[in-house]
Amino acid sequence: MRSAGNFTPAGKELRMARLVRHEATGPVEVKPQADSAWICQCGLSQNLPFCDGSHKLARQNDKPGKLAIYDKTRTKIVEFRDEV
Ligand code: FES
Repeated sequence: MRSAGNFTPAGKELRMARLVRHEATGPVEVKPQADSAWICQCGLSQNLPFCDGSHKLARQNDKPGKLAIYDKTRTKIVEFRDEV
């Protein structure tokens, strides 16, 4: 399975790390579906565990090589840090 991330013209995936607040304390059941279900991997969806398109914010605002720290609504970057 391949994620739908950002790629350079040479096909190398751009990795952009972020910290987002997760408050869930357990799993969510995703029942088998007739159609594909897209599970959020960026942590920015407002409809977790499903992707709602919010990953576009990461593509627009995160920076390769920096750690983006999002506010508690997972909609705004409040700080960038160098990755360690
Ligand atoms: S992967 Fe997180 S909103 Fe799409």
